[in-house]
Amino acid sequence: MSDAIEIRCLQTIGEREIRGLSDVLIDCVEGGASVSFMLPMTRAKAEAFWRHVSASVARGERLVLAAEEASGRIVGTAQVILAQPENQPHRGDLAKMLVHRQARRRGIGAALLAAAERSARSAGKTLLVLDTASDDAERLYGRGGWQRCGHVPDYALLPDGTPCGTTFYFKFLRD
Ligand SMILES: CC(C)(COP(=O)(O)OP(=O)(O)OC[C@H]1O[C@@H](n2cnc3c(N)ncnc32)[C@H](O)[C@@H]1OP(=O)(O)O)[C@@H](O)C(=O)NCCC(=O)NCCS
Repeated sequence: MSDAIEIRCLQTIGEREIRGLSDVLIDCVEGGASVSFMLPMTRAKAEAFWRHVSASVARGERLVLAAEEASGRIVGTAQVILAQPENQPHRGDLAKMLVHRQARRRGIGAALLAAAERSARSAGKTLLVLDTASDDAERLYGRGGWQRCGHVPDYALLPDGTPCGTTFYFKFLRD
């Protein structure tokens, strides 16, 4: 990965971060990523989502990683949802792994994934689970040692309304 990229676990998400994270989310949805949103992807929808995430971080329910260029521009992000039912305290969900199209294929996704796993382990998690509708992401998780465990057809919609399947993965985190 480029030396100029720093991965940070955001302790607070302020206005600057909300703007930068929204840029990344909008770009990914406009690029066709199935990550909960449909077209047209507006800044209002993106900022509302990140404000919800910001409050959730403040409550200690999730971790948010950001990949930043030396200029401070956010080009990628990933989350670990810590808050789980009381019978699954050891488990977390990996979610919203997003890299801006201009910054892809430089190892930022791999660096975010490794940092998310380390942060989850530090938070006491020993098992992570995720689902994805992206072939690019499937290769990333496979390289990272994640175990593919099944595919559900027609699970969600792509941003343009086309049905798409989703594949589930898990990984045990070792010290
Ligand atoms: C999936 C995603 C996060 C990957 O991000 P990324 O930063 O491009 O990931 P990486 O750079 O680590 O790896 C991507 C590819 O670049 C290659 N690569 C990494 N560093 C490289 C370098 N320095 N030079 C050339 N290639 C490189 C990797 O080997 C990988 O190759 P592959 O496509 O053949 O598997 C990104 O494509 C994305 O945001 N997609 C849209 C959102 C989405 O669907 N997210 C998944 C939700 S679960």
